[in-house]
Amino acid sequence: MKKLLIIIAVILIGIQFIPVERTNPPVKNEMPMPSKVKEVISRACYDCHSNNTEWKWYSKVAPMSFLISYDVKEGREHLNFTEWNYYSMEENEIKQEIWEEVLKERMPPWSYRVVNPKGKLSEEDKRILREWALER
Ligand code: HEC
Repeated sequence: MKKLLIIIAVILIGIQFIPVERTNPPVKNEMPMPSKVKEVISRACYDCHSNNTEWKWYSKVAPMSFLISYDVKEGREHLNFTEWNYYSMEENEIKQEIWEEVLKERMPPWSYRVVNPKGKLSEEDKRILREWALER
């Protein structure tokens, strides 16, 4: 039993030395949006969908660090509000997609909402996003 605990401790310490990417590249273009919408999106989405990720202390501790940096990498690849270069037609589709993800409660991911109270969207937050996403 003691041996097992020592092995686990050694593994936990060892994985801390595996390099993890935690970058915040410079912001290029931010997606234009009204300030009310920006307040909600920057609070609930920017940690994974922007170059302004807030890297919390636990994002520096393996194995959480692996999961978080992977989420950020994937999130930025799919949608980056701070490297915005879409044409307006596409923009409408993206807004629609954003609303669908929020409506179905797929975004922010539940695992994020559990540890980040700021990721829980209120009814008012959702109303703001819906109006913005569906307005034409
Ligand atoms: C914990 C990190 C995280 C947060 C916070 C987060 N997302 Fe995501 N998001 C991801 C990841 C990872 C993907 C890509 C994989 C997937 O679809 O699950 C994604 C995908 C998406 C997509 C699909 C893009 C595509 O090309 O298919 C949309 C739209 C989206 N997110 C919107 C949002 C919105 C809006 C918020 C805030 C309300 C948000 N996300 C918050 C991690 C996050």
